[in-house]
Amino acid sequence: MGSSRRAPTRPSAPSSSSAPGARSQQAGADPAVGAIVIVCAGRTFIAGADITEFGKPMKEPGLHEVLDLIESSSKPVVAAIHGTALGGGLEVALACHYRIGVKAARFGFPEVKLGLLPGAGGTQRLPRVVGVERALSMIVSGDPIGAEEALRHGLVDALVDGDLTGAGVAFAERVLDERRPLKKIRDLDDKLAAARGRPEVFADFRKSVARQTRGFRAPENCIKAVEAAVNLPFVEGLKRERELFLELMASPESKAQRYFFFAEREAAKIPDVPADTATKEVKKAAVLGAGTMGGGIAMNFANVGIPVTVVEIAKEALDRGLGVVRKNYEATASKGRLTAADVEKRMGLITGSTDYSAIAEADIVIEAVFEEMPIKKEVFAKIDKICKADAVLATNTSTLDVNEIAGATRRPESVIGMHFFSPANVMRLLEVVRGAKSSKPTVATAMAVGRRIAKVPVCVGVCYGFVGNRMLHQRGREAEKLILEGALPHQVDKVLVDFGFPMGPFAMGDLAGLDVGWRIRKGKGQKSAVADRICELGRFGQKTGSGYFRYEKGDRTPIPDPEVEKIIVDVATAQGITRRHIADEEILQRLLYPMVNEGAKILEEKIAIRASDIDVIWVYGYGWPVYRGGPMFWADQLGLKTIRDRMLEFRRATGDDLWTPAPLLDRLATAGQGFVQA
Ligand code: NAI
Repeated sequence: MGSSRRAPTRPSAPSSSSAPGARSQQAGADPAVGAIVIVCAGRTFIAGADITEFGKPMKEPGLHEVLDLIESSSKPVVAAIHGTALGGGLEVALACHYRIGVKAARFGFPEVKLGLLPGAGGTQRLPRVVGVERALSMIVSGDPIGAEEALRHGLVDALVDGDLTGAGVAFAERVLDERRPLKKIRDLDDKLAAARGRPEVFADFRKSVARQTRGFRAPENCIKAVEAAVNLPFVEGLKRERELFLELMASPESKAQRYFFFAEREAAKIPDVPADTATKEVKKAAVLGAGTMGGGIAMNFANVGIPVTVVEIAKEALDRGLGVVRKNYEATASKGRLTAADVEKRMGLITGSTDYSAIAEADIVIEAVFEEMPIKKEVFAKIDKICKADAVLATNTSTLDVNEIAGATRRPESVIGMHFFSPANVMRLLEVVRGAKSSKPTVATAMAVGRRIAKVPVCVGVCYGFVGNRMLHQRGREAEKLILEGALPHQVDKVLVDFGFPMGPFAMGDLAGLDVGWRIRKGKGQKSAVADRICELGRFGQKTGSGYFRYEKGDRTPIPDPEVEKIIVDVATAQGITRRHIADEEILQRLLYPMVNEGAKILEEKIAIRASDIDVIWVYGYGWPVYRGGPMFWADQLGLKTIRDRMLEFRRATGDDLWTPAPLLDRLATAGQGFVQA
């Protein structure tokens, strides 16, 4: 602009989404201003909406008006980005004429994770910049991309080092000097044109995400919004985006996902163990037992760079266990998700030993030996003598009394349960089982370690099965009754798969191995007529090619098996049961209502701190579909009166006391309240 050139405005530091708009309005009117740079103070560029505002009337001005103002500014507007430009923040950046970022910046639209879509032009502008396929994958996955990738796809115009504000101003000056045009994304069309008239682009994308998005509502609306970007003029596309957004905002799926977002954060809080409770710094870990669970638990530590010692009774067991760990890492590497060097680095952090003195320096020990009380007690008495005075001693037991285990040591205050789920290197849930004597620092340390190894720790109390398995047991019992009364395993499983679970109880039994439960039943002198008969035939599930279902070689798809049907009918006849047709609705009620009822008892007994913790456990540990919030949230939505009254009907029909509603369920149902609000 030669001599008439004016300096770009000094940066604004927006404190809310309206600030960039107000500032650019001011700057637009100021003749001393030649260009505008939007840069944020603090840790990050605008990182999205304040989701506590969702569902309430929005404050003025709306983001749409702000973006309109920015995009239609007659002076160049440059977004200078650090930290994360997410959601509404990325929409602000896309309304600017140019974008620059630091190399560590990240860009994304996480709305889909809350059951929503970017509703301020994000679905219309992003495909115009990065192309339809990439926009679809960013918006539907919700995962952010890094700065290099953003540069490659034209989402940012330049990456800069050092002083971001200075770089933003320099970039704006260059735009002015070179008299570059104001690049309005709304006017771009070439990348959309590439997809226009090619509906297969969308059909292929839908197919590629069908499995991960099954049951969710938001992904389909995201795709429809991008289709609108391709097929409609910009302003019409914005209108369509708005409609699709509002539909999601009002949907039960998004309501559940937004609830769950807060539930997960809430689970980190333990009322009498404040956030500032001293925790032990964990520099070294140890795992006892290198079986199914021990190996996976050790991997969690190695994955985040914490050295871990694994102790076994015999060299063969140790070699076998560590061999499985290596195979797991190599499988990940073969999929391109780890480099060969990463595999070696992680294996290098895992040291095997058959000598317990190797754990003397560990800050935390997690025991995962056989599930037998005398063995657990012997192990804890032994480690009590070897471990540092301030080490945390954790047990991964799933059924034994943590207090009794703690009693085998002279320091029960340092003992706690850390109940991982199989496969322990994959499943996110960790039940932190607080013993009667576990000290607050022990609890706080177990929770902190859980988070550090990328788990979602939930604090629970001691009882048989803790929270998750105790509720699962209710479901399992009804599933067994249902097949004797007239349903078949594939019908029962299908009802839960249709509900949104990845699999039903019978396929799950086949996956876990039916012999495990059989051995436990035999040990306790218990029986399960159908399951025992199936096991007696050597049908242990997937590992033997058959269980409740049969399996083709190399395929995990459960196939209904007439042989199993015959066993079920024989057992029913022997027990004098007249089989009948059972409707899917009854199956669902009988599987899920007893779980909700058990959840109510768990709350009354204070085994769980809050109803939402139970929901976190079921979503992360058992595949409860997050778009249904979790069993307790789901029950609230259904209405506790509906559940209580149906349970009473079942009790009248069967005379079985198992259908007696828990006092808390009964009370809340009568008061017209829910668990979550209670
Ligand atoms: P596993 O039988 O696969 O492994 C146990 C390992 O411990 C064996 O390799 C054995 O050689 C070793 N071991 C036995 N006594 C030992 C001792 N004194 N010192 C060191 N190592 C010893 O059993 P799994 O399935 O890994 O279970 C371990 C623990 O984890 C049990 O308490 C179980 O209840 C619990 N758990 C199991 C889950 C599962 O899905 N398998 C899920 C959650 C918890």
